[in-house]
Amino acid sequence: MTRKRVGVLISGRGSNLQALVDAAQAPDYPAEILLVISNVPGAQGLARADEAGIAALAINHKDFASREDFDTVLNETLKQAEIDILCNAGFLRLHTPGFVRAWYNRHLNIHPSLLPAFKGLHTHERVLAEGVKISGCSVHFVREEMDTGPIVAQAAVPVLEGDTPDRLAARVLEAEHHLYPHALGLVASGAVRVEGKRVIGTTQQYRQSMLFSPALSGALY
Ligand code: GRF
Repeated sequence: MTRKRVGVLISGRGSNLQALVDAAQAPDYPAEILLVISNVPGAQGLARADEAGIAALAINHKDFASREDFDTVLNETLKQAEIDILCNAGFLRLHTPGFVRAWYNRHLNIHPSLLPAFKGLHTHERVLAEGVKISGCSVHFVREEMDTGPIVAQAAVPVLEGDTPDRLAARVLEAEHHLYPHALGLVASGAVRVEGKRVIGTTQQYRQSMLFSPALSGALY
C-alpha cells in the first residue's frame, strides 16, 4: 500500500491534527502526516507536530503584502514536500481562488456543524439559539466559498438540555476527533470519489442508519 502524503494547515490548538497524527500511527492507515503549517507562529499544534517528529513550519500571513502572496508561498512549500492531500484543521484563513483550484478535490476541511447548516463562526452559539436537537460535524472538500464543498462524512451529536456553547463544543470536538481520521482514510484509500456536489462511496461499506435525539427508549406516550 502506498500511503498518501498529507499536509495539515492549522492556526491554533491542533487537537484535530493530533487525531490525524494518532490515526496515522496505524500501519494500515492509508495516509501519513508529513508536514504541518501554521499561519500563527507559536500555535499549540506546531508543538504537537514537533513532538510527533513531523516537520512543522510557521508561515505568518502577516509577513505578506497580499493573500495571493501568502497562498503562493504556502502552495510552493506544499508542492516541495510532495504533498498529495491537504487537510485544514482549525485553519482560520480564507484561501484564494487559485489556491483552491490547485488543491481541487485533494483538500479537506472540518467544520463543527452538520453542513450546510451553521456555516461560519460561532456555530455552537447559533445552534443553541435555534433550539436544534442534533448537531455534529462535517468533513468536506474545500471550495471557494467558506464551508461549502462536497461532504465526505458527518457525525451527529445530541444537543442536551443545559448545554452551553462550550459544553456542546466539547461534545462535538470529541466526534470531530473520530470523524476526521475516518474521512481522510476514505479519501486517501480511494473509497470515495467526487461526482458534482456529492461524494460517492466506491465500496459497499456504506450502511444506512437513523439518528434520533432524544434517543428512542421504549414507549413514551
Ligand atoms: C474545530 O472545532 C474545527 O472543527 C474548527 O476549528 C476547531 C479546531 O480545533 N474548524 P483544533 O485546533 O483542531 O483543536
